[in-house]
Amino acid sequence: MNNIFNIVPGKSIIGDIQVSGDKSISHRAIILSSIAEDISTISNLSLGLDVLNTIEAMRALGVEIHLKNTTCEIHGVGLHGLKPSKKPINCGNSGTAMRLLTGLLSAQKFNSILIGDDSLQRRPMLRVAEPLRLMGAKINLSSRNTAPIEIIGGRTLKGIQYDLKIPSAQVKSAILLAGLYTIGATQVHENVLTRDHTEKMLQKNVDIKKIPGDISSATFFIVLASITKGSDLIIRKVGVNPFRTGIIDILKLMGANIELFNHDFFGLEPVADIRIRYAPLHGITIPQELIANAIDEFPAIFIAAVCASDNTVLRGARELRVKESDRIAAMAKGFAQLNVKTEEYDDGIMIFADQKFQGGCVNSFGDHRIAMAFAIAGHVAKGPVFVDNCALVKTSFPNFVELANQVGMQINT
Ligand code: S3P
Repeated sequence: MNNIFNIVPGKSIIGDIQVSGDKSISHRAIILSSIAEDISTISNLSLGLDVLNTIEAMRALGVEIHLKNTTCEIHGVGLHGLKPSKKPINCGNSGTAMRLLTGLLSAQKFNSILIGDDSLQRRPMLRVAEPLRLMGAKINLSSRNTAPIEIIGGRTLKGIQYDLKIPSAQVKSAILLAGLYTIGATQVHENVLTRDHTEKMLQKNVDIKKIPGDISSATFFIVLASITKGSDLIIRKVGVNPFRTGIIDILKLMGANIELFNHDFFGLEPVADIRIRYAPLHGITIPQELIANAIDEFPAIFIAAVCASDNTVLRGARELRVKESDRIAAMAKGFAQLNVKTEEYDDGIMIFADQKFQGGCVNSFGDHRIAMAFAIAGHVAKGPVFVDNCALVKTSFPNFVELANQVGMQINT
């Protein structure tokens, strides 16, 4: 995939598609199968670079893993069977891989070093080091409390009761993974509930044979069909865990026509087919209680807001500034390039109603979700949109362009 997307505006979005496996669940399935007993076979795994990095990390820790298309066979080594990695473990762009592995590796007998790309090495890691240190882990961060993360092994960890300061499924999961090794029980308390994939997978006799479609990837198509006149799109077998469906709740509040049907379960994870038809949208004030459940979906939600009547206001979402990019700043800059008026706050943004994207060039700042958000903006823009710096779309959604062009977009790379 080239670095630049060139999007030619187009007409209605029609199709019946499936998006690849959920990234969050894929990371957890790989890590937990690696420390399980026996062999696990998991199908419909995400093939995003982030997940491939987690596979490489577990291989470096001595786990035999075979990947064929989207099916992965993992030869679990048991709770105490991991081996030291010969070199620093590179988590690439993935905050989930880095934070979950910090939890797991804090409890091992050996030392580890975790590194990442420039974006990941700018992201805050104290949030994960702090509770793990309370458990007795020895973790060294950079002077800015970022990666590289050096973990000194051979510590005996004790269980803690921990109140999460920031709603974060990654921090919660890191503590729970370390908690598998502690003397005494570990409890994590959340004021705001976050995705519970780790908890679900840690339950006894859970069947994690098949990974649901990634709702965070589906989001770009849900928004695309919602804002493009005449659209009628079905996305099959999408994970609809209630802690992930904030995107559907928010778009429905804006007037979107979204229908869930064929409800089913893959293990403990609910899945459904989703039908999206074009409907005129209106802006809203995003309810605070929906923010955590839509945390990765805001770049796409902002695009929907531009096409809506009435202003849209998001506050209380400072976390968006410490994702793969500063997503509030990155979106505001891109909007300005396309002549869309917004007002930026330290913890959110206001998007003014009834606007049209002009053609133009935007930078994704190397953030996969910013790149895909502006790609769908290009479809409803008045002229061609160029999105620069799109190589990392493959961290979460390697076949985005192919699927987008299949349902009626025209993205040239
Ligand atoms: C994730 C949790 C969220 C989310 C990220 C994936 C996970 O991060 O933004 O893309 O898999 O646990 P936080 O835990 O930082 O909120």
